Amino acid sequence: MLKSTLIRAVEAGAEVMQGYFQGEFKISNKEGINNLVTEADHASEAAIFEVIKNDYPDHHILSEEAGEIAMDSHIKWIIDPIDGTVNFAHGLPLCCVSIGIEEDGEMILGAVYNPFIKEFFFAQKGYGATLNDKKIQVSEETEVGKSCLVTGFPYTYLDQPNGPLEVFARLIRKGVPVRRLGSAAMDLCWVAAGRFDGFYEHKLQAWDSAAGFLIVTEAGGRVSDFTGRPYSPYQPHIVATNGKIHDELLNWVNGNV
Ligand code: IPD
Ligand code: CA
Ligand code: CA
Repeated sequence: MLKSTLIRAVEAGAEVMQGYFQGEFKISNKEGINNLVTEADHASEAAIFEVIKNDYPDHHILSEEAGEIAMDSHIKWIIDPIDGTVNFAHGLPLCCVSIGIEEDGEMILGAVYNPFIKEFFFAQKGYGATLNDKKIQVSEETEVGKSCLVTGFPYTYLDQPNGPLEVFARLIRKGVPVRRLGSAAMDLCWVAAGRFDGFYEHKLQAWDSAAGFLIVTEAGGRVSDFTGRPYSPYQPHIVATNGKIHDELLNWVNGNV
């Protein structure tokens, strides 16, 4: 039942996104430069809430635009109604709906859906990860030097020692390809699918990473903070890899190379 509500909620948000895509909609700015929120983000969130509240009116919700809707519940829905809003606002089909579900603080279900390229990623704790119902696995690469990586850049906080620009420059100067899709949820899912060998980012929020974190883990990958400790979506740093390049990538990110 929880799984079916999750799938319907993600699909409801995605349908709203498709309705607005490349059309006319209101865009406003949040904190930082080009940190956008559109009418479509709010409408997607409302459609998602309708599905969840209909089935589970007592569940706790944390959602990017509405914030925390605290309830005394073991279950918490962590929602990004559009991940990749800047892409969405520019008509780039690299954006998705991302929803993770926690039970007593542990991620148990995650779904990420990009309706424009028709990719639906799903994971249930202990049951593996799928892309459009087919099992996925992380890559086999063992060296950062031969890897294809992906990262993202926060809207604030770019220039500092070992900050986003410094780490990016370090890897690029050594000839390591580092892509930037503009959607952390997609970055994580593409690591899970073995397209990228690793992903790192300096400042994510729980709604960016909740679902993707479980999807990578269930696809056989490893997700940690910058010290190598098991990942928590409630702190900013993330490194997600196929596991094999993880310790080496941590050294690159921390400047120990
Ligand atoms: C953003 C994207 C982007 C990441 C930013 C996020 P939004 O989410 O995931 O890839 O670099 O840090 O804020 O604003 O498009 O939902
Ligand atoms: Ca996001
Ligand atoms: Ca968002």
